[in-house]
Amino acid sequence: MVIFARKEKEGMRVGNKYELGRTLGEGNFGKVKFARNLDSGHPFAVKILEKQRIIDLKITDQIKREIGTLKLLKHPNVVRLHEVIASKTKIYMVLEYVNGGELFEKISSKGKLSEAVGRRLFQQLIDAVSYCHDKGIFHRDLKLENVLVDAVGNIKVSDFGLSALPQHLQDDGLLHTTCGSPNYVAPEVLKNKGYDGATADTWSCGIILYVILTGYLPFDDRNLAVLFQKIFKGETQIPKWLSPEAKHLIRRILDPNPSTRITMSEIKEHDWFKQDYTPAHPEEDDDDVHIDDEALSINEPPGAEKDLNSPSHRINAFELIGMSSCLDLSGFFEKEDVSERKIRFTSNYTHEELTERIKSTVLQMGFSVQKKNGKLKVTQEHKGGKNSANLSVAAEVFEISHMLNVVELRKSFGDGKVYRQLCEKLMHDHGVSRSQELLAAEF
Ligand code: ADE
Repeated sequence: MVIFARKEKEGMRVGNKYELGRTLGEGNFGKVKFARNLDSGHPFAVKILEKQRIIDLKITDQIKREIGTLKLLKHPNVVRLHEVIASKTKIYMVLEYVNGGELFEKISSKGKLSEAVGRRLFQQLIDAVSYCHDKGIFHRDLKLENVLVDAVGNIKVSDFGLSALPQHLQDDGLLHTTCGSPNYVAPEVLKNKGYDGATADTWSCGIILYVILTGYLPFDDRNLAVLFQKIFKGETQIPKWLSPEAKHLIRRILDPNPSTRITMSEIKEHDWFKQDYTPAHPEEDDDDVHIDDEALSINEPPGAEKDLNSPSHRINAFELIGMSSCLDLSGFFEKEDVSERKIRFTSNYTHEELTERIKSTVLQMGFSVQKKNGKLKVTQEHKGGKNSANLSVAAEVFEISHMLNVVELRKSFGDGKVYRQLCEKLMHDHGVSRSQELLAAEF
């Protein structure tokens, strides 16, 4: 039997107790609606998940586990989960309603905050995030948009523990633009060789601190490949006008090496952080959250589940590109004008395969190739004279994820026509795949 999911309308009842109101947001995982408890009159926010999507994505057990752990989170700076109600087709997560909007909107409209005000918010953020880490729950998508502000200006982190839900695939299995951005993603996450949830969240907190104190992102570029290079290198300009202690803390958090990056407990001991710090007092766990376990049961055919929450969960090209919907991907996916000095294209070969393939193509074409500082230096000597090279090209492969690489070709000097031939041959042999053309068409 096929059960068709109905759209929630204003005034609709959930669990005979909550009346749904306006849409608060089209969150990463589905709609979030305002709701009122009809007995108490108290406001709530209700996150609505489609059961069928969870079944299709084979993440049923994962979701049950996640919801089970979310009820453990009782911290003044983490959005509280009050109740979980399920219908035949939907899961309704009844959450604390936070009425001051997103911190993102505050910074976008009013600009950066003073160090004293920014410090108070950052202390609350670190308190919240380290509390969840201590319970074994990682956020994995921390950004200003997930930091809500309450009526008295305190922050509440939302979407904790929901990282199991793929954020950018919708019912049709395609990518959709939710205007997220990879600006907050730690370099080791992009490298896609497995990462630790705690150190990756710490990096994202550093990006949030930077934005709070400066009003802009530390790593930004409209071109995705360039943005990733900036994140990998961790080279960021920290404004001179920040206090030396704030600059030091930002630098220690935005350390591209996760093994030397400052930890949550070290942040709490840092001079800048410690000023006027009063740690929050999370509530004791009295286990009073009601979960509608029976109704939550999702009947799914047996099959392998994706463990999206494991520390080694790897983002795939779809998730990665989905994160980047606000960025200009044209230079990333389409063949750039080969008359230009610099061109980039993507490939699904691994880094090693690509390097070998580039080498063999250029050798076949009669070029010579040398490896220098991780780049391939491709040269062609003029047929007439021994020492008069008439084309010199640097080829570099940037690993975005295991199976997604960007090849960048840069002409140092030489004949434009020969350079164009080289680029076209390389792109033809190794470059834009059919699937990437399709992906590019998505945007
Ligand atoms: N938007 C998303 N989650 C929310 C919440 N808990 N309160 C208010 N608005 C929200």
